[in-house]
Amino acid sequence: MNLDRDGWYRRAKREGYRARSAYKLKQIQDRFHVIDDQDDVLDLGAAPGGWLQVARDLTDGGVVGFDLRPIEPLEDVETVRADFTRKGVLEEALGPLGGRADVVLCDASPDLSGNWSVDHARSVSLARSALSVCEEALEPGGNLVVKVFQGEGFPGFLDEVKRSFSRVNGFSPEASRKRSAEMYVVARGYVTAPVREGDVLRVEIVDTGSEGDGVARVDDFVLFVPGTDVGEELEVEVIEVRARFGFAEEL
Ligand SMILES: C[S@@+](CC[C@H](N)C(=O)[O-])C[C@H]1O[C@@H](n2cnc3c(N)ncnc32)[C@H](O)[C@@H]1O
Repeated sequence: MNLDRDGWYRRAKREGYRARSAYKLKQIQDRFHVIDDQDDVLDLGAAPGGWLQVARDLTDGGVVGFDLRPIEPLEDVETVRADFTRKGVLEEALGPLGGRADVVLCDASPDLSGNWSVDHARSVSLARSALSVCEEALEPGGNLVVKVFQGEGFPGFLDEVKRSFSRVNGFSPEASRKRSAEMYVVARGYVTAPVREGDVLRVEIVDTGSEGDGVARVDDFVLFVPGTDVGEELEVEVIEVRARFGFAEEL
């Protein structure tokens, strides 16, 4: 649906959402299905709570919202008033989620100064903080949705996200203002592998996979090496990394 800013605002009022931004998350969900029905969700920069309402409807898992500002209580949603960019503040949020979230959302905006390059740099810095939160808070294979203003720092940020997730898209929901520079980076499949594509390493084949590939282990991470047999020691190049396993080629 194509509404102007006031149209989305009126619709949000009518449908009981605290913010018109709720429709942005709904549109992201319709397109990318980032939240599953049992997922635990951590929302950074969550006030007044529109995204929390949408997340609450989508999952039976835990939902925790984080903001500098107070968030009016919402049924079955935990809220934490704190700056998520500061070290050591996550513990309180992660307790109710049992340690880690399946989805991290971040719609945080900096206070706007009116100076475009300053605001852009602050937005990229907030988005980077959300990416750092994933290291501590996101399950392997989990998803991240993060807002960032487009500008010169955007491509570099996108590259960083691509290094940590298997599928990454930039998305501008219809419910964003027409001339807005805001963009949502939708990143799926958090990769916590101890290896990266292109790494060259020496491995021992310790097992055979169900499709006959040799299996090597790096820490607990499984690397499939086609055309090899148990007992071989060889040099391989990592060619593909997924959240829980990867593929390598004999060199
Ligand atoms: C656009 S609003 C979020 C709207 C929300 N998604 C909703 O649907 O209601 C951005 C929020 O980010 C919060 N924020 C910005 N920087 C933050 C930080 N470092 N820590 C926590 N919250 C932050 C602001 O206080 C503001 O409430």
